[in-house]
Amino acid sequence: MIKFSYEESGIKDLSILQSEIEAAHNALHNKTGAGHEYTGWLDLPENYDKSEFDEIITTAKDIRNKCDCFLVVGIGGSYLGARAALEFIKGGLHNFDNKPNVFFIGNSISPMSLRQLIDIIKHKDICVNIISKSGTTLEPALAFRVIKDLMQHKYGDEASKRIYATTDRNKGALLQTARENGYKTFVVPDDIGGRFSVLTAVGLLPLAVAGLDIKALMNGAASARREYSSCGIENPCYQYAIVRNLLLRAGKNTEILANYEPRLHYLAEWWKQLFGESEGKQHKGIYPASVDFTTDLHSLGQYIQDGQREMFETVINIEQVDSDVVIRPSDCNDGLNFLEGKTMHWVNEMARIGTKNAHVAGGVPNNLITIDKLDENSLGELFYFFMKACAISGYLLGVNPFDQPGVEKYKKEMNSLMVGGEK
Ligand code: PA5
Repeated sequence: MIKFSYEESGIKDLSILQSEIEAAHNALHNKTGAGHEYTGWLDLPENYDKSEFDEIITTAKDIRNKCDCFLVVGIGGSYLGARAALEFIKGGLHNFDNKPNVFFIGNSISPMSLRQLIDIIKHKDICVNIISKSGTTLEPALAFRVIKDLMQHKYGDEASKRIYATTDRNKGALLQTARENGYKTFVVPDDIGGRFSVLTAVGLLPLAVAGLDIKALMNGAASARREYSSCGIENPCYQYAIVRNLLLRAGKNTEILANYEPRLHYLAEWWKQLFGESEGKQHKGIYPASVDFTTDLHSLGQYIQDGQREMFETVINIEQVDSDVVIRPSDCNDGLNFLEGKTMHWVNEMARIGTKNAHVAGGVPNNLITIDKLDENSLGELFYFFMKACAISGYLLGVNPFDQPGVEKYKKEMNSLMVGGEK
C-alpha cells in the first residue's frame, strides 16, 4: 500500500482540521457537496460496467492482432491518464519494444507533429481510438479529421472497422459520427469528468491495447477505495489533503510533485491537470508544478533551494526497481570508484534523501509518498489516492472540485478570432 509521510512538512497537528475533514468526507460520500453529480469515480473500482470491461479486453486483443500502430486521439482528461499509465509501466521508450506502437495525437494544434507522425505511420497497419466526451474539442477534432481521411484513403469501407470512439453514451457530435460511420463505441460515463476518467474506457482501452494488465489496475484502485474510505485524520489520503491545505494557509501556494524516476513524468502531468483544474478557481488553489529529479536538480534545483519561499514538495518514492545497474570499477578518472559494488538505485536513493535534507533546511516543506513498485496494482492505488485526496482537498479549500468554468474563457476569445477571420 501507499505510505504517506508528512514528518518533514513542518505540519504537526492535523486535528486542527478534524471537523472540516469530516464535513468534506460526508459531502463526498453522501453526495451532498458541490459537483456531487460528477463523483461516479468514487465507487467505480468496484461497480464499473463489467460487460464493457470484458468487451474492452476482447476488442484490445483484436486491435493488437490487426495493427502495427495504434493512434490515441484526445486531450486533457481524454489523454493524460492513458499516457501517464503507459509510461509508468513501460517507460518513455515503449514503442521500441512493444507492439503495437502507441502514439498520442490531437493533444496540440501543431501541424508539424501531426504531419511528422503521418509520414512515419502511413505505410503501417493502423487502428485509431478517438476519445472525446463532448466530441467537439478543437485539438482532437482537427487531428481526427485528418486521420479519418487517411484511414478512408488507405482502407476504404474497412476503415470503420479500425476506428473506435470513446464518448458520451447518449449524445454529442462524436457519438453521431460514430453511428453514421459504424464505429464501435465505448462510454465516458455521465457522472465522471475528464480528469477523473482514467479508470473508464478512456484509459482502459488504450492501456489494454498497449498490453497493460487492466484487471490489476482496477484491483489496485479497489484496494485503495477500501483503504482510504474511513472518515478521519488517520486516513493517509486525507492526511495528504489536510497537510497541503495547512501549508497553503501558511503561505505555501505552490506544490512541486517531484520524482526520481523518468517513468513518472506523465503521472505528474496527469496530477497537474487533476489538481490544477479541480482547485484553481475563485482566485484560490495551490499551483501544481512538477520536477523530474535528478535531471531538474541541474536546472530548477537552484530556484527550489534559494528562490522565493512559497513552495512545498511532495516526493514520490519507489521502493523496488524492476532492473538495476551495479557500479563496477573503471579507469574513467571520474573519482567515482568509491561507489564500486553499489547500485544505481541506491545512488538515486541517496540523491533523494540528500536533496530532501537540503530542501527542508532551505525552507521547503517536504511530504513523501512511497509506493512499492512500478506495476499496475500500485498505479491503480496511486490514481485513486490522488483523485480522492484532490476531491477532499477541494472541499477543504471551499471550491467545487468537479467543474472547470475557467477553461471556457480562452476558448471564447480564440473562437471569436477564428470566426471573425483574424489573421
Ligand atoms: O478534464 C476535463 O474536463 C478536460 O481536460 C477534458 O477532458 C478535455 O478538455 C477534453 O474534453 P473532451 O473529452 O470533451 O474532448
